[in-house]
Amino acid sequence: MKIAFFDTKPYDKPSFEKFGQENGVEFKFFETKLNEDTAELAHGFDGVCAFVNDTVNADVIDQLYSMGVGVVALRCAGFNNVDMKHAFGKVHVLRVPAYSPYAVAEHTMAMLLTSIRRIHKAYIRTRDYNFSLAGMTGFDLHGKTVGVVGTGRIGQVFISICRGFGMKVLAYDKFPAPGLADGENIRYVTLDELFTQSDIISLHCPLTEETYHMIDEAALEKCRRGVVLLNTSRGALVDAEALLNGIKSRKVGAACLDVYEEESDLFFEDYSGHILDDDTLARLISMPNVIVTSHQAFLTEEALSNIAETTVENLVGFFRDGRCPNEVCYRGGSAQDCRDGKCF
Ligand code: NAI
Repeated sequence: MKIAFFDTKPYDKPSFEKFGQENGVEFKFFETKLNEDTAELAHGFDGVCAFVNDTVNADVIDQLYSMGVGVVALRCAGFNNVDMKHAFGKVHVLRVPAYSPYAVAEHTMAMLLTSIRRIHKAYIRTRDYNFSLAGMTGFDLHGKTVGVVGTGRIGQVFISICRGFGMKVLAYDKFPAPGLADGENIRYVTLDELFTQSDIISLHCPLTEETYHMIDEAALEKCRRGVVLLNTSRGALVDAEALLNGIKSRKVGAACLDVYEEESDLFFEDYSGHILDDDTLARLISMPNVIVTSHQAFLTEEALSNIAETTVENLVGFFRDGRCPNEVCYRGGSAQDCRDGKCF
């Protein structure tokens, strides 16, 4: 089976080559992203393998369909970059629902600690033999309240890390996880309560029409002064302009962003030496209390290996059985996991 692999980075190849060779899947690695202009590269392939910032819109889907390419194997969990409604009946969309929730949850905590203990500042200072502590005062996490939006795989690992620090947890999820709340240190609350009572807010829910700009001006208005916002989920959960205004007005104490609404043309590429056109991102990055990483939270050896293994399993299973446990489909007005022809 031949698969066109888009948006290839050097760290992708070793694990995909290994699992591909072991299972008879031949990957052709393209550096370009998948979009309307590059979809034709998939001609003659059995499927495409795409990542978070590839574009799988109606035009791309139609091109794949007309070339007889019936499968889009996403090597990520989120599928907000796929027009699922348009894909229904034309291409099958497979994904990797979980590869390492620890990778993302640990990166979230790494960003939080870096930010509130000013590690990013200290690193630069001491390299310049500046051993002054002025302006470095942080705060203890112990006893603070963290609001966790989305208590799925990553949210739950993050909660357990936060509990290790002695933090109190307020959780919000459209579908609360049974048995997670303990009535004392972990409590489910409404989103408004979470906003008003949290010292730190961490987003771990998917990007949907419902969650788009969940953190906007109105939400920030409700938050505590000095709130620390963590977003390692999807950029468009946060209205970046509203966040910037919140930082400028000192309402937001710090922000740690691994994702950004307009990241698709920027993240994963080296633009050092270029002039950044995105004023909002440039201004956010210039703030001393904002830390931006470029969609890096997933990037651990364990996650890369799991991603490659599951993607190859998805493809092999799909071409053998005509179905895959990790297929996503669009039925009944929303995108859902689809196993053995049943939607979940
Ligand atoms: P998951 O599916 O296990 O958990 C998501 C949770 O969000 C579920 O409990 C679900 O009920 C909840 N949810 C759905 N709609 C909601 C709503 N409207 N309000 C509140 N909660 C809602 O997903 P997982 O594995 O925990 O991943 C979470 C997100 O992390 C993904 O959607 C993805 O966007 C992001 N992610 C980011 C990565 C990175 O490298 N920065 C890597 C992997 C995932």
